[in-house]
Amino acid sequence: SDTVTYDFDVGWVYANPDGAANRPTIGINGKWPIPPIVVTKGDQLVVNVKNSLGNESTSLHFHGLYQNGTTHMDGPVSVTQCNIAPGGSFKYNFTVDQPGTYWYHSHVRGQYPDGLRGPFIVKDPDSPHKDLYDEEIVLTFSDWYHDLMNGLLASFVNIANPSGAEPVPNSALVNDTQNLGIKIEPGKTYLFRMINIGAFAAQYVWFEDHTMQIVEVDGIYTEPKDAEMLYLTAAQRYSVLITAKNSTNANFAFVGSMDQDLFDVVPDGLNANVTGWLVYDDTKDKPAPKEIAAFEPFDDFELVPQDKEGLYDKVDQSITLDLKMDNLGDGANYAFFNDVTYVHPKVPTLYTVLSTGENATNPIIYGSNTNQFMLSENQVVEIVLNNNDPGKHPFHLHGHAFQVVHRSEDEVGAYSANSSIISAFPKSPMRRDTILVRPNGNIVLRFRSDNPGVWLFHCHIEWHVASGLVATMIESPLSIQKQLFGKIPQDHLDACTLSKTPTAGNAAGN
Ligand code: C2O
Repeated sequence: SDTVTYDFDVGWVYANPDGAANRPTIGINGKWPIPPIVVTKGDQLVVNVKNSLGNESTSLHFHGLYQNGTTHMDGPVSVTQCNIAPGGSFKYNFTVDQPGTYWYHSHVRGQYPDGLRGPFIVKDPDSPHKDLYDEEIVLTFSDWYHDLMNGLLASFVNIANPSGAEPVPNSALVNDTQNLGIKIEPGKTYLFRMINIGAFAAQYVWFEDHTMQIVEVDGIYTEPKDAEMLYLTAAQRYSVLITAKNSTNANFAFVGSMDQDLFDVVPDGLNANVTGWLVYDDTKDKPAPKEIAAFEPFDDFELVPQDKEGLYDKVDQSITLDLKMDNLGDGANYAFFNDVTYVHPKVPTLYTVLSTGENATNPIIYGSNTNQFMLSENQVVEIVLNNNDPGKHPFHLHGHAFQVVHRSEDEVGAYSANSSIISAFPKSPMRRDTILVRPNGNIVLRFRSDNPGVWLFHCHIEWHVASGLVATMIESPLSIQKQLFGKIPQDHLDACTLSKTPTAGNAAGN
């Protein structure tokens, strides 16, 4: 294994990916789109970040990586680190020992949709699928706003907005453009790694007249499964095999289509789709895509992990989260778990773990607004999430992939464990790190607390992070102390001295 080093100077550039608005965008080393991070399983990764934004703090999170033994490298500000203040530097340094398709993004509240999000690929010399394809291609799907997040967030959370209507994206992008043609060679098989790096909109994705065979979901290898059309919530990933036709007679469209159910009001003239082409012959036409209704959506509950890991059927600790969106006295819309809207603490939760000795197991010391849950070591932990809201939400847990043991249909209300539901739990549930809960529905997730750390659990719609739809899992705090006491690098500690000011887009906080 190698050490792979990236030097990232994070700063503002101009970009106009949909041709409709040239806007300040957060780039790296003077460029946007930002580069993919590519490593091989087992590598040591070093990312040196310099914040040259001038007016905003930043951080980087490596979405889906377990950070086993390195929770202080996870990236969320006020959870495992302080802000990287303007002018500051910060080194992320950890071993990557899981293969698959991930992404990285800023984890200062509300910032990544301004451009600071990109693919994170971990190659696997031992992949069970490596002989099945000739080439691999990364596709990111994203929503895009013409306005900057700071202004959008201010109008979303800082003023009376009783309906809680989220800003609607201006357009959709694939690989940060609306003009993507992929050169395809007849007869070859391609691995497409698809990532929704968007802020809000889930996307339906289909390839016309080509079948997708799913082989990986959120970094977990799956038994191969065919699909016509996938649904990727913000932050989800799928790797699929696509075998090219044997002739160059025609080109074929592929489409990312934003799920407009998420939008309270669909603005006139919104083009919710982005279209690209599998180009077999660039002298031939690029046909217009078909309507979405021609394709059958795939249900991710049909997936089985390739390792066939069995259902965790004995639960040691169960956590219930009741989700609600509502107003507080100021008329602004907030999101709640169990009636608490997350407010980020002044001292990162991890540093509180490290500075409080035996008291670190006492939830009280973490304050009343961090939605903290103490997990003890090597337990099967269950999260039951009841969505008391008519919207869809994609939930993400840091530090783990969870078994998805149950997901209800729409409008069934709170979960209740009756025997017919329990007997329908899959024998080998799919595991992933981001999962959709349906409107007024529920989900049940299980994982083993085998990874000491401070891990956020949150909705991956950036608007809902800003309105407080966040909980903190404090897993095995005394083991965190054993691993990390006295070992937080000096540049991380210095960040706390430099960053006296609150983070960009901070609404409910402070
Ligand atoms: Cu994509 Cu808190 O993460």
